[in-house]
Amino acid sequence: MLSKDQIETYQRDGFLVVDDFVPPRSRARLRERAVEIVDAWEPSEQRSVFTTNEQERVSDGEFLASGSSIWCFFEEDAFGPDGELTQPKELSINKIGHAQHDLDDEFERFSYDPRLAEITTDIGLVDALALQSMYIFKQPHIGGEVGCHQDSTFLYTDPMSVTGFWFAIEDATLENGCLWAAPGGHLGPLRQLFKRSPSGDGTVMEQLDDTPLPEPPPVGSELVPLEVAAGTLVILNGQLPHWSDVNRSGTSRHAYTLHCISGTADYPDWNWLQRPADMPLRPLA
Ligand code: FE2
Repeated sequence: MLSKDQIETYQRDGFLVVDDFVPPRSRARLRERAVEIVDAWEPSEQRSVFTTNEQERVSDGEFLASGSSIWCFFEEDAFGPDGELTQPKELSINKIGHAQHDLDDEFERFSYDPRLAEITTDIGLVDALALQSMYIFKQPHIGGEVGCHQDSTFLYTDPMSVTGFWFAIEDATLENGCLWAAPGGHLGPLRQLFKRSPSGDGTVMEQLDDTPLPEPPPVGSELVPLEVAAGTLVILNGQLPHWSDVNRSGTSRHAYTLHCISGTADYPDWNWLQRPADMPLRPLA
C-alpha cells in the first residue's frame, strides 16, 4: 500500500497523511450509521461526558465497560446551567466508542479493510489486532479540545506498539478543530500511563517522565496543523504527541479512528480497555 518514501516519512515524523483513502460512498455510509447509533441510543441517568482533556477523562462505569460495547459520550459543553441539553441529542455527542469495529456491521466492514492490514505490514506492526474504535463528531460550536497527549498513555503494550488510523469523514480545517502533531515527537519519552485502578472501578494517571508535551499554539511551534480533506487517512505512531482544538465554527468535523496493537506485544491487564474472554481481539486480516 505504502511507497518507500511514505514509510520513511512515517518513521521520521511519527505520522503519515494518505490522501483519498476513503471513498465518498464509504464515508457517507459510516456517517449515516453513526447518526443512527446516536438516534437509537438512550442515555443513562448518570451522563457520560468526554471531558475536554483526556487526562481528566471520566472513569464511570459506562466508560470502563465501553471497550467491549458501543456507547455515546456527551460533549462537555452540551449542557446548560440547568443540566439540560442546549441542542438536540444528535448535536450533543462528542463520540461513539469503543468496540463498534466488532459489534456493528457497517463499522466492522470499514475497519477490517484489507488495505489497512497491508499498511500495518508496511510499517512493521506485526500481527496487528484491532483494539479500539471511536467515531468523533467534533460538533459545531461545542466540539471540545483534546489536550496534547500520546496514545500509548491510554493504550499501552510492552513493547509499545499502538498505532492509530484516523480517517477524515469530513474536511478537517483550522476552523473546525483539525489534528495537530509534533513531527518527530514519537522519538521522545512516554510521559504518562493511564491505568485502571487496582480495585477495577476507577482509573489513575501515573507520571513516567517530566519532559513537557508540546504546548498548543500560539505558545509553542512544535505542533503543525494537519488540515486534510474528507477521505484522508492519517496514520499516527502511539508515542506521537498530538492535539486538537475546540470547534467554535458552524461546521462539524467528523472523524473515525481505529487503534491497533501488535499481537506479539504484551497487553497489561491494567489497561483501562479490557475485553471479556469471549470477545478476543481480532487480527486486521
Ligand atoms: Fe489520540
